[in-house]
Amino acid sequence: MKQVFGVAPNGAPIDLYTLANPAGMRVQITNYGGIVTSLLVPDRKGRPGDVVLGFDRIDGYLKKHPYFGAICGRYANRIACGCFTLAGAEYTLARNDGHNHLHGGVLGFDKMVWKAAELAPMGGAALWLAYSSPAGDEGYPGKLDVVVTYTLADGKELRIDYLATTDAETVLNLTHHGYFNLADGGKSEVLGHEVTIEAARFLPVDAALIPTGELRDVRGTPMDFTRATSIGARIDAAHEQLVHGRGYDHTWVVNGAPGQLRLAARVFEPTSGRVMEVLTTEPGVQFYTGNFLDGTLTGKDGAVYRRRHGLCLECQHFPDSPNQPQFPSTVLKPGQRYTQTTVYRFSVA
Ligand code: GLA
Repeated sequence: MKQVFGVAPNGAPIDLYTLANPAGMRVQITNYGGIVTSLLVPDRKGRPGDVVLGFDRIDGYLKKHPYFGAICGRYANRIACGCFTLAGAEYTLARNDGHNHLHGGVLGFDKMVWKAAELAPMGGAALWLAYSSPAGDEGYPGKLDVVVTYTLADGKELRIDYLATTDAETVLNLTHHGYFNLADGGKSEVLGHEVTIEAARFLPVDAALIPTGELRDVRGTPMDFTRATSIGARIDAAHEQLVHGRGYDHTWVVNGAPGQLRLAARVFEPTSGRVMEVLTTEPGVQFYTGNFLDGTLTGKDGAVYRRRHGLCLECQHFPDSPNQPQFPSTVLKPGQRYTQTTVYRFSVA
């Protein structure tokens, strides 16, 4: 189902699409930024509740906000100094996060109006979104054609499939930047959520959140989520990495082989009983605990989004890969296809 949601600054109409499934889930997605605006998931008593942060109306999304529910690109996360060298040429991007480039720049994919079409695949409902980013867009080389398909499968999962092609060598790193709060959609802190991350290593960062290049063992550190641990248990520990992140804001190296859809993380919220598992083909998952939320934004149902009222599990390549040749490559060449699949799967316990 499609309804009018608003008008973009360039005059393009913006729509809101609703997909529902027999398991009691409902997702609403706008073609502005590919943003998931609401996601209803039943709790252990079968009562549906919204588990993502966001706004009721388009106005909230047209103002500055921290990428609630959006598709980030061309390069999600940070590129140091907003510069990189590719095939002998130097490129300069916007420095929109201190000295660094963040989430594709000033006008990233999160602020674009995408083409959209509703699909009816077997076993679910889907929304197809396409955007063609011209050569030079935000400083990136090559024309990049991107398709993102959101599928609400009948089996209580939201699946995101990405596909991209280019006409000239370029770099990219796409992700979905949903903020989850499985208790109440963001009215309270997420510190009681219990998290498991399927990762033996994480990427330490400097004070500006740029990876140092090391892949560090999580053992014996507050970054060890190999066993379910509440977010609040160690988040304020006196550990250099938690100081740099103001909490958790790091990439974990997902165990197993990139390219294969495998479990990356599991979140359990004890009061509602909701469980969210995150599966991905990507090499990493950025676990961010909403440390920069500061109560200045009020969202759906009057919720005031204070510090740590939401958590993100953004499946992606490693930050700053264009400048760190030892990291898995984020280069895309003409004739190649970039693909990614990430699944947010829900249940109760
Ligand atoms: C990502 C980053 C955070 C922050 C948010 C947006 O998760 O890692 O540092 O920039 O996006 O506010």
